[in-house]
Amino acid sequence: MFDLTQLPDTAMPLPDDISGFTLAASPQSSRLLQMTFPREIVDAYLEAVREWPVQALEYKSMLRFRAAKFLDELCDNTLQPILVNAMVDRATGGFQVTPEGLDKPEQADDMVKFATAVAHLMGRSNYDAMSGQYYARFVVKNVDDSDSYLKQPHRVMELHNDGTFVEQDTDYVLMLKIDEQNMAGGNSLLLHLDDWEDLERFHSHPMAHREMRWTAPPSKNVARDIFHPVFDVDTDGRPLMAYIDQFVQPKNFEEGNWLTDLSESLENSPAIISLPNPVGSFLLINNHFWLHGRDCFTAHPDLRRELMRQRGYFTHAKTLRNPRQV
Ligand SMILES: [Fe+2]
Repeated sequence: MFDLTQLPDTAMPLPDDISGFTLAASPQSSRLLQMTFPREIVDAYLEAVREWPVQALEYKSMLRFRAAKFLDELCDNTLQPILVNAMVDRATGGFQVTPEGLDKPEQADDMVKFATAVAHLMGRSNYDAMSGQYYARFVVKNVDDSDSYLKQPHRVMELHNDGTFVEQDTDYVLMLKIDEQNMAGGNSLLLHLDDWEDLERFHSHPMAHREMRWTAPPSKNVARDIFHPVFDVDTDGRPLMAYIDQFVQPKNFEEGNWLTDLSESLENSPAIISLPNPVGSFLLINNHFWLHGRDCFTAHPDLRRELMRQRGYFTHAKTLRNPRQV
């Protein structure tokens, strides 16, 4: 069991004990908390929201928060303070969440409903321009003709932060596995900034705080370039990153080579965590101090993987010094 006294009560009082779920450090890293909901809580939650298909949650934003309330009530209101505080806790800031009994692709809608409740206890998911909804589902297959590495299976997707080319704050990233067939490899890759041995070297470089241009390929449906540095600092002055190798547009030789050095350092860090994320489970991380990526898969003609993502901003606590939405 995870020792609750390790968590700070930054934004909400912490409960003495938890109910309706369990918490443990993951085998890969003590920074990543495994949160598991037993089947009876999952079933009771799905019963509580049975009258609302996913479409109802799409059309009426307010219902996402009511769904969240139902789940928290089933946990005797001990779930929300854990999520709110841990997501901004620099020492952790990440979960792998497993709702027991939700592990088949045909339960995809229930998976989306469950993940939506967890996210909306501590945040609000942003509009996702790729799907036109507050979440996006997408499929990775053996052959891909897309314009970014998101859906290309046979190569590593390098470590990055999400939301680097959008104007909304992207405080959290939630990544749910809906389906997986004929898969070998493809683990999720995570790196906590404080575990990266070169953080100080890059963060203290003058280039770290220079505004750079970030642009998205057409599939992202984002029309405008935006400008920001690779590094920022949080409310306590600790380094944060907003970085992705594919979408940064260095303006000259100096920027391009500094960025390439940065990328090589990240990709070769021995502190990278590689973890499997089973069907029905999802990762929920603070997007400012956790980088994420994906290991390559082994080719297979019938390879199929389906994922759901939600990215959003914190509604109770904050990591950014100057959040835009709250
Ligand atoms: Fe990503």
